[in-house]
Amino acid sequence: MQVESPKLVAALAELKIEHRPGERLADWTSLGVGGRTDILVIHEPRHLPELVHLLDAEGLPRRFLGGGSNLLVREGELPWVLLHLSTKETQPEFEGRRVKVAAAADLGRTVTECARRNLGGVEGLIGVPGSVGGALRMNAGAYGIEISQFVKTVTLYRAASRSIETVPAAAIGFHYRHTSFAADDIMISAGLELPERPYEEIRAAIKVCNEKRRASQPLNEKSAGCIFKNPPGASAGKMIDELGLKGHRLGGAVVSERHANFFVNRFQATADDLLGLIDFVRQRIRQAFGYELEEEVIVWT
Ligand code: EPU
Repeated sequence: MQVESPKLVAALAELKIEHRPGERLADWTSLGVGGRTDILVIHEPRHLPELVHLLDAEGLPRRFLGGGSNLLVREGELPWVLLHLSTKETQPEFEGRRVKVAAAADLGRTVTECARRNLGGVEGLIGVPGSVGGALRMNAGAYGIEISQFVKTVTLYRAASRSIETVPAAAIGFHYRHTSFAADDIMISAGLELPERPYEEIRAAIKVCNEKRRASQPLNEKSAGCIFKNPPGASAGKMIDELGLKGHRLGGAVVSERHANFFVNRFQATADDLLGLIDFVRQRIRQAFGYELEEEVIVWT
């Protein structure tokens, strides 16, 4: 989708929005897959309502692109303009045990910055790739914790009111890898509250998580993390492994030998290769175990 109208291009410049035409999503996602479209990089989130208004007036469909680490995008010319919050100037602000952090900030870096201020609790999230906003929207979790446990407020562009709102955590539904945010809500920042802990203790916990992750996940390959959610009381990775599907290949996509719930783009996979592999594995799990696996990765087709 191209932003062509000279009037819109001029309006974007006035809002200090960077127009990046014809970007390849393969360059913006950790899977390294996806077609082309225009990306609008927003430097001042307060302009979001105005931007949405301008795009709607031109009839341009839009989606929001965060860190791209949990996303499987189709090939070809994409039918949406993508909005993306600039990742520059995303230093967290501290006040006692409270932290205000931009949605565009890198999640792992945020964990480290908090540790330097003797604020812990979130060590388990250290190796989760992507942005704070993506983690909020998906309620990211690992090693026994979920980000929702530490959220006090979220500031977002709320599609329903077409305005920026700050909502208390109690007004948000946080579930396993799912939240009550609408698909077209856009995270702007979060207010977290973290427990105080000695830096050395946090650092040691971070080291343990990093080592566990390195030992059990294919961190050197292109992936989108876990492909399927775990069904209640069961492990998708374990079931896929038990069926002997590690190393199973479809086109350029392969079931990781290191963790069976990670599908890696090893041989220039296309979106169709990955989608085909997802369907194949889902079917095998249904036949063998009776579970209908739900995708954890976000699919844009
Ligand atoms: N297992 C196997 N074979 C495999 C993979 C796992 O037998 O190929 C077994 C493990 O030995 C373990 C069990 O399955 O007994 C669970 O595995 P693991 O501890 O790796 O956790 P997981 O349930 O597969 C979840 C999250 C991960 C997160 C880890 C660590 C989901 C879908 N996945 O994985 O999150 O990093 O726990 O806490 O909830 C993600 O969200 O993208 C993601 C990778």
